[in-house]
Amino acid sequence: MHKNIGTIQSEAIEQIHKACTMPELDTIELSLFGRKHGMLSEILKGLKDLDVAARKVQGELANDAKGAIQSELDERRAELIEQETGGDIDVTECLIPPLPRGTLHPITLISDELEDMFSGMGFRVYDGPEIETEYYNFEALNIGVDHPARDMQDTFYIKDLPGRLMRTHTSSSQVRAMREFGAPLAVIVPGRCFRNEATDARHEHTFFQLEGFVVGSDISFAHLKGILEATARHLYGSDTQVRLRPKYYPFVEPGVNGEVTCLLCRGSGCRLCKSTGFLEIFGAGRIHPHVLREGGLDPKKWSGLAFGFGLTRLAMLKYGIDDVRLFESGDLAFLKQF
Ligand code: PHE
Repeated sequence: MHKNIGTIQSEAIEQIHKACTMPELDTIELSLFGRKHGMLSEILKGLKDLDVAARKVQGELANDAKGAIQSELDERRAELIEQETGGDIDVTECLIPPLPRGTLHPITLISDELEDMFSGMGFRVYDGPEIETEYYNFEALNIGVDHPARDMQDTFYIKDLPGRLMRTHTSSSQVRAMREFGAPLAVIVPGRCFRNEATDARHEHTFFQLEGFVVGSDISFAHLKGILEATARHLYGSDTQVRLRPKYYPFVEPGVNGEVTCLLCRGSGCRLCKSTGFLEIFGAGRIHPHVLREGGLDPKKWSGLAFGFGLTRLAMLKYGIDDVRLFESGDLAFLKQF
């Protein structure tokens, strides 16, 4: 024989008031409304065996009891939540445990930093293709067919795409940008480059450069030195000196090799700078008339400057990384430090 509905209801409400945890309330709810042996569920199931008049009375009683108990349960649950949270419920709280966070690659960090700095000086950031034509990588830059850089020993050519190669430097974007934007222009091109190198701690087949070039009506070496000094001082501090020494690159005339005060010894001479007090970090020069012409610009009207930093080298110096192979290694122990 079932318990009387009134008794079930009053006992249930008493238990609900006493319950102090959510699981206790869940157990009470199950004992009453559980599909299998819930006390009220059983009574509701048994209604079909009663005669019409009794079914009506019992049915109403059972439904009223169900409603009353359910609202007591809801109320008690709300009270418990309020006790637990001190009254404030943070509806934005994420109960899924947070996923582990990645970090930015050291090359991305230094590239972003320089993009910000150059954007502030009015340069636009350009993204040239990594698979490049021989024309943009070499011919447009006045690098003749017999130049050693064009050798298979130095450059990755693409077997299935005749005339295509993996760009060996970001200078390949110079003529592309001149044709696209015309003059005057000021552009930087940060990007990945490739050379057919046997790898060791100082050589890698994949590395990053940051190219910059400016074309205008009276661009001189003074502009070049000013930009390079601003960059070096931004990266390595206001007492950093820039030293330019003549060097041949077919796409600049005259061309220079750029050095900055050694970060380690600040100029007095050490192992890193091989006792010279300076570190070589970029190539630069005034843009060769051949390159301007290929870019559709009249060298009598326009002049320009160009420079190229080894971004990978800058990152190695900045973060004290002694093996270039770490950059492409995907080694999490290395990457998580940034
Ligand atoms: N492209 C040259 C290199 O890869 C660097 C450079 C850029 C030199 C621009 C001069 C002007 O070594």
